[in-house]
Amino acid sequence: MNYIQHNPLPIPDVGPSERVPVSMDTIFDWEYALRRQNLLALYEKGKASSWNASDLAWETEVDFAKKTRDMLGAGAGEIFNQLLNPPHKLEPEVSVELNLNITAWMLSQFLHGEQGALLATAKIVQGVPWEEAKWYAANQVADEARHVEVYHRYLTEKLGRSFGVNRHLRTLLDQIICDSRWDMTYLGMQIIVEGLALAAFSLIKLQWPDEPLIQDITARIMGDEARHVAFGVLSLEHLYTKELSGAELKEREDFVIEATHLMRERLLMEDVYERTGLDVKVWLPWSIQTPYMRGFRQMLFSKIVPNLKRLGLLTPRVRAAYQKLDLLRFEHLKDSSEEPEVMAPAELIEVLSQIRQGTSAS
Ligand SMILES: [Fe+2]
Ligand SMILES: [Fe+2]
Repeated sequence: MNYIQHNPLPIPDVGPSERVPVSMDTIFDWEYALRRQNLLALYEKGKASSWNASDLAWETEVDFAKKTRDMLGAGAGEIFNQLLNPPHKLEPEVSVELNLNITAWMLSQFLHGEQGALLATAKIVQGVPWEEAKWYAANQVADEARHVEVYHRYLTEKLGRSFGVNRHLRTLLDQIICDSRWDMTYLGMQIIVEGLALAAFSLIKLQWPDEPLIQDITARIMGDEARHVAFGVLSLEHLYTKELSGAELKEREDFVIEATHLMRERLLMEDVYERTGLDVKVWLPWSIQTPYMRGFRQMLFSKIVPNLKRLGLLTPRVRAAYQKLDLLRFEHLKDSSEEPEVMAPAELIEVLSQIRQGTSAS
């Protein structure tokens, strides 16, 4: 396997690599009891669903700038200005840049999140006490290496632009990696970060229906991620609903509330406006208020909320925090052990389809 990095990732201020000290127990399991049939079934599914990133159609031409120009030429700029009500009208070339940067930013955060998942799940292999969970986690580690490979190749070989890790995502990944308790790694990675990613992937699919390579990549990765989130739910359910003390549960609540706030901050995309040459002071408030961006941030929690409920973590404290963020609307949706897929909310699909219909009608 070999590919050309036309545009390598930007190196952050900390340098090309970073050391994070972690103190945790590594657990040998000498019993090999294999009691958890649901995890063993997931492990079988994981092995059977593996795929090779080299088999993807990497020869596909990827030209988002051309696609965006075509959309603008067909009238998408007008529809964008009407529906999204940006702070000021954008010149066509600035719209193209903004669109490209948003896509590159999202895919870059996926890449960095995938690296976080690779490291966090390797940590689960070591720290979780159950044999079945170690096996499944090892299978997930292989999935995550493949996801890092695919996004990295797409960004550097095909798209040709990328962003460093967003500081809020970086903070959350750090917390997940540094915590010495294995269940916190699951809670942060499998429930919050991967639950969020699963929803964000579905948006990329909706946004670029005519780019077959990103469609294929996203569909494959979403299939893997749905298993990873189910792994978190199946592993934590008994522990959280039956075993943890009140004080221990409170620490998990605090973590969930803080992670949720971090991930809302993360989605404001300051880096994108800066790179596009737009005034961050003007565009940030817009991205906080505009219904499309709000709908997008809401959607990211559509799988997290029912999963937290299943884990017994939608407690009065978490509910109160989620009420303020208008996230409780997802609590009656199916959790990942009942329904692995994630649906984009109706209002978001509506905006995207209006933009598309507008362009095809003109
Ligand atoms: Fe992944
Ligand atoms: Fe994953």
